[in-house]
Amino acid sequence: MGSVGIEVNPIPKPFDGSDIDFGAEISGINAENLDDHTFEIIRSALYEHSVVVLKNQAGLSSAAQFELTRRFDPAASGLYSHGKNIDKRSVLHKDLTTVPSLRQVQVIGHGHVPEYEGLTNLNLTHPHHRTFHKHPIPVEEDRDFTHFYRWHIDSAMYALDPPKVTSLFAARVPKGRRQTVRYDDGTGDELDVPLGTTAFISGYRMYDLLSDEDKAWVRDSWVEYAAHPYIWMSQCKARSNGLGLFSDGLELSEDKLPPVEDDKVRRYPMVWKNPETEKLALMVYPTPVRKIVKGDGTVVDDLKEVRETLYHLQRPAISPQFVYPHDWAEGDLVLFHNHGVMHSIVGAFAEGEVRLFRQCNMAASEPPKGP
Ligand SMILES: [Fe+2]
Repeated sequence: MGSVGIEVNPIPKPFDGSDIDFGAEISGINAENLDDHTFEIIRSALYEHSVVVLKNQAGLSSAAQFELTRRFDPAASGLYSHGKNIDKRSVLHKDLTTVPSLRQVQVIGHGHVPEYEGLTNLNLTHPHHRTFHKHPIPVEEDRDFTHFYRWHIDSAMYALDPPKVTSLFAARVPKGRRQTVRYDDGTGDELDVPLGTTAFISGYRMYDLLSDEDKAWVRDSWVEYAAHPYIWMSQCKARSNGLGLFSDGLELSEDKLPPVEDDKVRRYPMVWKNPETEKLALMVYPTPVRKIVKGDGTVVDDLKEVRETLYHLQRPAISPQFVYPHDWAEGDLVLFHNHGVMHSIVGAFAEGEVRLFRQCNMAASEPPKGP
C-alpha cells in the first residue's frame, strides 16, 4: 500500500469541556516528498476531518508547501487567493508579505526577522484586534486577555473564488504563554488559548446547531458579497467576538471604491456541500456580506438586518466548546478545508516575541457547491 507507518487520528480534545468533532493529526508523513498514494490519504482526511495537522515538518520548503496545497485543486489558475496585488487601501495590505519566488506563499507573523525565503529585514506585524474592533481590550490587560480577531473564510470575495484548502506552516513559534479570549458579547464566554493560536470552528456544526426552520430557509438561500470588500469595510469596526461588523454606516460608497464590475461580484449559496461526504456546512463570511437573497425571492439588503440575521445563525457555533484553538509548535503544517471551516487569528505578542509562519492558498478553480 505504501502507507506503512501512516496514521490518521482525531486530534485530542484541546481542553476539558471541548465538544469539537473535527480535526485530525496525521503521523508518519514527510510533506517534502509525497507520492500520489500518500497525498490521497491527506486529501481524504482533510475532507473528512476539515483540519489536518502534520507535526514535525521542520525544514519544509516553500516549494513543497505550494505543491501540496496545489494538489487539492490542480485546475486552479495558481493565483493567490487575493490575486496579484493587494490594494494599499485594503485592510489586508499590512498583513501579508509575498515570497518572491512563489507568489502563492505569504510570510506572516510577528517581530523582526533578518532573513527568510529570499526576503531580508522583515518587520512582521501580527494583526492586533485593536486595529479592527470597536471595543478593544484595555492596553493594561492586553498581555493576558485578547479577542478573536476576525472569523473568516480565506477569500478575496470579489473576482476570485475562495481557495479549497489553505496551508499554514510554523517556522518559529514563541514559547509558553497563554491568553484568555474574552467574547465580550454579553454571554460572559471566555476561552483560555495558547499565545497566537489559530482558532477554527466547523461550518458543519454551525449548520447542525440551527433550528429546523432556519435549516430550511438557509438551505436554499444565497448571499451576495460587497464589491472590493476589504476596501469597502476599511473604516468599519468589528464586534468583540470577531463575528462580523457593527453597522455604523462607515462602509465606503461606490464612488470611493475602484471601478465595480458586476460579473466579479461574488454570490454564493449560504450552505456548502462537502464534495466527499456530502455533509452540509453553513458557510457565510459575515464581514464582507452585503445582501441575503432567500429562496422565495425575498432580498434582505438592509445591512443591519443582514448582519443581525447572520449573527443569530452563526453565534452558537463559536461558543467555546466548539472552538479548536491550535497549539502551534515549530514544524507544524496545518491544512484546512476552507469550504468547511472558518478560522480566526488570535492574540497579541509582546516586544521580542518572534513568530514566523508561511501561508499558502490559491483562488479555487470553481465556486463552492450548494446543497
Ligand atoms: Fe485566514
